Amino acid sequence: MKRTFYITTAIDYPNSYPHIGHAYEKVVADALARWKRLLGFDVFFLTGTDEHGQKLATAAEEKKLTPQEFVDEMARHFIQFADKLDISYDDFIRTSQHRHKVVATEIFSRVHKKGDIYKGFYEGHYCMPCETFYTEKDLVVGHCPKCKREVKWLKEDAYFFAMSKYKQRILEHIEKNITFIWPESRRNEILSRLQGEELRDLCVSRSGITWGIPLPIDKSHVIYVWFDALVNYISAIDYPGEKFVRYWPAHHVIGKDILWFHAVIWPAILLAAGIPVPRQIYVHGFINDEAGEKMSKSKGNVVDPIQLMDKYSADVLRYYLLRSTSAGQDGNFSEKDLVARNNTELANDLGNLLLRVCTLITKNWGSVPKAKPVQLFDAAELVASMDEAMNRYEFNVALEKLWEAIHLVNKHLNETEPWKKSKDEQAVILYTAADALRIISILAEPFIPQAAAALRKTLGVSKVTVKDCVWGKTKAKTTLGPQEILFHKREFAAARVFPLALVVGKITDVSPHPNADKLYLLKVDIGRSIQLVAGLKPYYSAAQLLGRIIIVVSNLKPAMLRGVESQGMLLAADDGKHVIPLTCGAPPGSKVELDTFVVGDAQITYDEFAKIKLTVKDGHVLFDQQELHVHRKPVTVSGVDEAKATIR
Ligand code: MSP
Repeated sequence: MKRTFYITTAIDYPNSYPHIGHAYEKVVADALARWKRLLGFDVFFLTGTDEHGQKLATAAEEKKLTPQEFVDEMARHFIQFADKLDISYDDFIRTSQHRHKVVATEIFSRVHKKGDIYKGFYEGHYCMPCETFYTEKDLVVGHCPKCKREVKWLKEDAYFFAMSKYKQRILEHIEKNITFIWPESRRNEILSRLQGEELRDLCVSRSGITWGIPLPIDKSHVIYVWFDALVNYISAIDYPGEKFVRYWPAHHVIGKDILWFHAVIWPAILLAAGIPVPRQIYVHGFINDEAGEKMSKSKGNVVDPIQLMDKYSADVLRYYLLRSTSAGQDGNFSEKDLVARNNTELANDLGNLLLRVCTLITKNWGSVPKAKPVQLFDAAELVASMDEAMNRYEFNVALEKLWEAIHLVNKHLNETEPWKKSKDEQAVILYTAADALRIISILAEPFIPQAAAALRKTLGVSKVTVKDCVWGKTKAKTTLGPQEILFHKREFAAARVFPLALVVGKITDVSPHPNADKLYLLKVDIGRSIQLVAGLKPYYSAAQLLGRIIIVVSNLKPAMLRGVESQGMLLAADDGKHVIPLTCGAPPGSKVELDTFVVGDAQITYDEFAKIKLTVKDGHVLFDQQELHVHRKPVTVSGVDEAKATIR
């Protein structure tokens, strides 16, 4: 029987689009999953989305969708994202799925039957807009620490989980199992918190919220979103069925902000339900911006992993993330460094090596010559040292080992100068290089799967298992090809700014302007309601505009137009005959993006706006040849003469 390896990522909140932190975590887990498969393990790799809770319900409300409609749409983005990143997940769990709700309810009932759920009340300082309880010490000068608004003292019926009962067992488990929480610094953090603080029981219900899983014992409450979410790790493997028996316990890959939930709350729930605790919790650091600052939308320093993959490739992003971060540490994302690594390590060291070997062999021999290889490196030792690093989540170390081997092959070709050698000597040199590349193609697979597959195709290698990482397995007479350029060299250009903040809006009301014949007053929903003055009256009736999805400039200085304030501007294409508003198949409130531009949000004047030239091609709206879109849904306009159209 094969040894099993069950690995999971945290399940992401799909209240917004996937970010670089989500990419990093998935790539870390994927590299290890692929590595274990290479080693012959029976791997099960789980990822997914965490779809309940107030945060999601609020995000759905802002988009005027039901929570289910909203999460259905957003989960699609997360699945596409995982696929684009080449994440080799075996299952994608969504907590709004029936299969999950059944198991979450079952676990809650089990813990209740055990006598570990009791009714009490929850009291504290409550912030209405944030729907969060705070203790006295959380407050900032008596106000909500998050939104700074006033808080109210509130007391609410609630159900509690007797988590405190399990403190000792959890503590002992962590003490006895050095690698249960990894790396060690994180283990120490939890140990000292557990030793130093009283472990309080956990409130595991919320009332007044309907988007969640009802408590089996009281349908007027829903299960607390974290209790619900953690259960995904077993609902996805059909607890208590055969798959659960085969794969549990898991290795959880998570970020440092959610360690307490995984290291204490989750083991407590499992112990109460009579289920073994996880095998390991690996805690990775955060990806911050170039200056080491946390990325956030308000700071405008967020990098979009989808744009990076479009610009470079999934492999380049994967390689960069794995190579430039150390286990458990934060990493600073720098596109400049990504380009530098792409050019030297990927394009030069590996890509050029393949081209060189292919050219030398094809030109001089037609196909791989027969010879006994020189063992440039100890293949078994390479695998063992990479394995040791991988098991410690030191992907950068594993990659350094692999690149040492790549350097040795480059050095071998440079120093032996095969083109100056006799036929026999040349055969040995070239066979050695091809054989080394074959071994490298196998070991590179977990990190850069697409390039590794291209490499194997060129070298005529079909099997991918670590057992093939021995010298001399390349078949003589193999014709090499097609000669692929594995990685293109890139130039780094600092991001340019697109100065228009465009947002999708829906017209909710149309009325005539009191002082102008050609103008309408429009009420537009852009996530909030704004008023626009638009010169569309000669072209459209009110009924034709009502409900229409339009594109609004949201950073234009508000202007008084004939005595009425316009808080933005609707964009339309005008070819002299027709005036047609731009549109986009995305929900109101969504922001328009461009691939290689950063969208500026500083306020601009009408004169500045008038200098910006947008064009139309095949119905799509472009700026500097680049498509305006909302997460791949293009901004469009049809029915105008594109050559003559100006967008205003
Ligand atoms: N839904 C919860 C997890 C429930 S698991 C039962 C959640 N979701 S999240 O979308 O906010 O975060 C998902 C994962 O991404 C977490 O492990 C989190 O630590 C990680 N990251 C979020 N931002 C990050 C960075 N900037 N860098 C690296 N990872 C970070 O928490």
